[in-house]
Amino acid sequence: MTGESSHHTALITGASRGLGLALARSLAEDGWALIIDARGEDTLESARAELAEHTSVAAIAGDVTDPEHRAAMAGAAREAGGLDALVNNASILGPSPQPELLDYPLEVLEEVYRTNVISPLALIQAVRDELKEGARIINVTSDAAIEPYEGWGGYGSSKAALEQLSNILAAENPGLRVYRVDPGDMRTRMHQEAFPDEDISDRPLPEESVPGFVKLLTGDLPSGRYETRALVARATTED
Ligand SMILES: NC(=O)c1ccc[n+]([C@@H]2O[C@H](COP(=O)([O-])OP(=O)(O)OC[C@H]3O[C@@H](n4cnc5c(N)ncnc54)[C@H](OP(=O)(O)O)[C@@H]3O)[C@@H](O)[C@H]2O)c1
Repeated sequence: MTGESSHHTALITGASRGLGLALARSLAEDGWALIIDARGEDTLESARAELAEHTSVAAIAGDVTDPEHRAAMAGAAREAGGLDALVNNASILGPSPQPELLDYPLEVLEEVYRTNVISPLALIQAVRDELKEGARIINVTSDAAIEPYEGWGGYGSSKAALEQLSNILAAENPGLRVYRVDPGDMRTRMHQEAFPDEDISDRPLPEESVPGFVKLLTGDLPSGRYETRALVARATTED
């Protein structure tokens, strides 16, 4: 455990696999205490057991759309002595394959928005009193928030809403660092759901997006929109 960051605590949603687990592994190795969640209890427990070899971990199974679950995570944040970082990473794609907007089932769209937009804000509200001075909030977004990819209207517009929500939250709270972060394409379950018939083995592993997140969590960058791989490429050029 690295002494310097051993008192740091991060709450990462959706950390049982994919990007959330990759980031949790990296922070655990640097001694951050962690609070993690996911809906699937068994996979979350495997992640907890692995991470607990490096640091203290509170794993709370549940759905980010559930207010009681969010309150339980806020309680864990209080018990941990507050948060240095909240990473709103949990997200859903919606139907696979994704339907075009004219055919998009509206009850599913509501679920996508509830998970990808309302819940991140609700969790920020739930932990607002647990955020330490200078705490970082990372809302994980996507290039689908900006590009008009056909078929990506549900997920993409939810991420666009999350981005503008992050943008305004930062303007309203100059004391907080609010980052909206595009991790780029990653070889994960969500990506496979997005491209159900494709071999996605050429996509980078989520571990390749992690250094950009660590840079945001440990550096001094202003609130804003960042792409993790560009952040790391910039650092390499500066070195
Ligand atoms: N993969 C890509 O190419 C890509 C590109 C751009 C942006 N992103 C973004 O990166 C982030 C991570 O995506 P990923 O590719 O790592 O996805 P993933 O492999 O599907 O992992 C998603 C994680 O979130 C959890 N989760 C999903 N819905 C949840 C809910 N309602 N409540 C609690 N936990 C929930 C999942 O566990 P359970 O299913 O057990 O709940 C899992 O741990 C997402 O915000 C995604 O939009 C991904």
